[in-house]
Order: sequence, then structure tokens, then C-alpha cells
Amino acid sequence: MIYPIVKYGQPVLEEAAAAVTIFDAELEKLVADMFDTMYAAHGVGLAAPQIGISKSLCVIDITSNEDPTARLVLANPEVISIEGKQTDEEGCLSLPNFRAQATRPMKATVRAQDARGQEMTVSGEGLLARAFCHEIDHLNGILFIHHLSMLKRDSIRRKVRRMVKAGEW
Ligand code: NI
Repeated sequence: MIYPIVKYGQPVLEEAAAAVTIFDAELEKLVADMFDTMYAAHGVGLAAPQIGISKSLCVIDITSNEDPTARLVLANPEVISIEGKQTDEEGCLSLPNFRAQATRPMKATVRAQDARGQEMTVSGEGLLARAFCHEIDHLNGILFIHHLSMLKRDSIRRKVRRMVKAGEW
């Protein structure tokens, strides 16, 4: 099932998500639906709050479904170490058509559970490190625009407000 993606302005995107405590068939179905939804939207990451579900769960595939082994499911993830910095263009499925330069760690190591509840530690560099940080931010109610200058952030907010008024958001 492909879910509609919740857009910026909906409170669920700015709330801390609840921990995943039950790892069952229902969760596996949700994970499969999140991958389908992410691929349909041409994203490289999707967090459960982006489909209106306030659970600490995200999926990532920076290969855009080219490599099935690249699929990552992170339940209750936390960044445990970071290294270096990178600045590159970033976007978010919940803020369609807005992209901006954002600075993130060059490397990030994450501790999480997989879809079966198994503990794991995974490290990423470059785009993968960016995806880890971006998606885990979502689970803490933080959007990528929080990492931009106030000027840039306000400009995006104003544009969104205008689109909401015009019924285009
Ligand atoms: Ni996002």
C-alpha cells in the first residue's frame, strides 16, 4: 500500500515519535508499505511520521531500489557517533520542491533495531550519513529546514504559507 505523504505544517511532523515496542507481522507490513511509498515518491529515506504514524521507525535506500541489499530498516534509531562535516543540497518528501544546502556530519554511526527487533549498529558516509541524520531528525520532530539559516528557513516558511492559502499545499 502506498500512503499519502504528510506535508510540512502537520503537527505529526514536529512531534517526537513513540518507541517501537512490538515487532510483529503488522510492523513488517508497515515497513513494506513504507518502502513502497518511498520508492513511489522517489525518495531515499522515509520516516513513519511522514505517513502520519508517530512511531520511531524509518526506511532508507540510497540506491533508489537498484540494490536490494542496500535497504535499511531502523527502529528506535539513535546516532551514537559522528565525524567530519559535509555541505550539500538536501530535500524532504514532506517539503516537495524545496531544496537547500544543509551541513551534516560526513560520517555517522547509528544504533537501532531491525524490523525483527534485532539490535544493530550501522555506519554510513556521505549521502548515507546524511540520510541517517535526516530520518532520525524526523523521529525527533525535526525537519531539515531547522538546519538552514534563519533567513532561508523563513523564506521557505513564507512560501509554504502562501501555497497553503492558495490551496496549493
Ligand atoms: Ni524528510
